[in-house]
Amino acid sequence: MREFNDRTAVITGAASGIGLALAHRAAREGMRLVLADIDEAMLAEVKKTLPVPGEALCTRRVDVSREEDIAALADEAYSRFGAVHLLCNNAGVGLSRLAWEHTAADWSWILGVNLWSVAHAIHHFVPRMLAQEGESHIVNTASVAGLLSTPGMAAYNVSKHGVVTLSETLYTELQAQQARIGVSVLCPAWVPTAIHTSERNRPERFGMATPPSTASAAYQERMAQAVKSGRLTADDMANAVFDAVAANRFYIIPHSRIKQAVRLRMEDILVDRNPTPL
Ligand SMILES: NC(=O)c1ccc[n+]([C@@H]2O[C@H](COP(=O)([O-])OP(=O)(O)OC[C@H]3O[C@@H](n4cnc5c(N)ncnc54)[C@H](O)[C@@H]3O)[C@@H](O)[C@H]2O)c1
Repeated sequence: MREFNDRTAVITGAASGIGLALAHRAAREGMRLVLADIDEAMLAEVKKTLPVPGEALCTRRVDVSREEDIAALADEAYSRFGAVHLLCNNAGVGLSRLAWEHTAADWSWILGVNLWSVAHAIHHFVPRMLAQEGESHIVNTASVAGLLSTPGMAAYNVSKHGVVTLSETLYTELQAQQARIGVSVLCPAWVPTAIHTSERNRPERFGMATPPSTASAAYQERMAQAVKSGRLTADDMANAVFDAVAANRFYIIPHSRIKQAVRLRMEDILVDRNPTPL
């Protein structure tokens, strides 16, 4: 999809980090915006500061892990603007724990926000996107965690591997239908955002995470440091997304050096070697 001006973008997780950068880039492109996030206060701030005329901007509190919230988001986007041209399923949360310290509630929260959200969005948006005129594009935010198996974040890794394969499947199915809907999957490495404080937005129904063991706390600290020292910014991610959408490119891997680790994992699989530690 090459034309962004006067088109409509729906972005989840738009109140912070990569989602917020996507919203700013989309605004600069002259797009109408439907911005969704669970954090209503931050979303209200974004609404005040984003350089978009009121009639072209709609914000909505959404818990992306809940199907009814995604259904209502799709209803609002279509009733307000009539079409959705760019759908960014971006909201996500992280948790650092040893695999055996993840509780069932941790799994439900992480898989709900990171993976079920994308499944819900595909179910509620794609039929409408198929029915509308012209080109459109879906961008799912996964992670390099969807291409690797970094220790200390089992549920996150599982959720992001799920987003990668769901995106690949969607892409091939839409191609087979000769649909005018492009698909991309964004796989960043570390980017300085608020992802390491994801618990701030953990819905009450999942309870709070149990205190980490010493080993889990060490992984938590390592993750926080890695996020804070990320070389590429959220704006770099947004620019990479818009470049890829314009070029109809599926894989968006802005931290290109991480591909060495992806290649090593693939070689482990192909030569029957046990996983090389990251
Ligand atoms: N920052 C990184 O290093 C990094 C690396 C790879 C992938 N990612 C992915 O990028 C995406 C954006 O994360 P970020 O780094 O900008 O973090 P962030 O915490 O700055 O932004 C995430 C946004 O998602 C929102 N959110 C959380 N739970 C939600 C829910 N249930 N419903 C709706 N919104 C919810 C938060 O309120 C927040 O505004 C995520 O999918 C994340 O997994 C981030």
